[in-house]
Amino acid sequence: MDALVSRFFRVDDPQTHDFVYPIPDTFWSRFYEYEWTKAFTDPNDTCLDAASGVVHPLQFYLADHCKSVYACDLDPRVGSRPAIEAMMRDWKIDMFVNQDRYFSNVQRTVCSLTNLPYADAFFDKVYCISTLEHLRDRFNRYPVLQRLTRYLRPFLRSDIFDTLAEFKRVLKTDGMIILTFDYPRINLAYLTRIVDELCLVFCGPVDFQLPPNAVTGSARNLNCFRAVLRKRA
Ligand SMILES: C[S@@+](CC[C@H](N)C(=O)[O-])C[C@H]1O[C@@H](n2cnc3c(N)ncnc32)[C@H](O)[C@@H]1O
Repeated sequence: MDALVSRFFRVDDPQTHDFVYPIPDTFWSRFYEYEWTKAFTDPNDTCLDAASGVVHPLQFYLADHCKSVYACDLDPRVGSRPAIEAMMRDWKIDMFVNQDRYFSNVQRTVCSLTNLPYADAFFDKVYCISTLEHLRDRFNRYPVLQRLTRYLRPFLRSDIFDTLAEFKRVLKTDGMIILTFDYPRINLAYLTRIVDELCLVFCGPVDFQLPPNAVTGSARNLNCFRAVLRKRA
């Protein structure tokens, strides 16, 4: 299944411009990211939209397609229905998503990805879309430190490592972590090192080569990478 290949998104990949609601053009890579997530949803899943955003659409899509949906974010508005409704109005999406089932079918929590309030082995899938690059992590930012991670980690903030460790903890044995992130803001060698250190593995083939037709954000010359991880058997 192509969806299991961890690689850069390419301009000829399938896209969606209507994912629960019409996706704004400024979401340059989300057309591809959201379309790709559809390959993983299962009606029997208990899943987490990790760093969901306040009204970003994946949580609503999952609510329509999965058994049980949790969403979390550091943004305190995630914990307030009036704040969520106000943002729906701001984004002019209230006619699509201001519906009771999107509140009752999604259990939202304000928390950090580095300290998740869920039990061990709870989720079938953990989705984390376009967020890793926003986490504070000195080792990602300064590759020169990477060979010393084991020694320096107790002293330097390493939120990407702590986040993936938490995803692993809350994931069922046969669960999957579905990730997208901006490149080069995430250092691929560092990510691979963390995956290995945490005894995670890529679910299918991996291609780190940046293709000529990679999806590119016009403003900042960014590309978008997708990865599917599981626990090592
Ligand atoms: C670019 S948005 C991505 C939102 C959403 N995942 C999507 O589909 O686009 C990044 C989100 O990460 C959240 N965030 C950043 N650092 C976080 C952390 N340490 N723990 C939880 N959420 C965090 C921000 O509040 C923001 O909502």
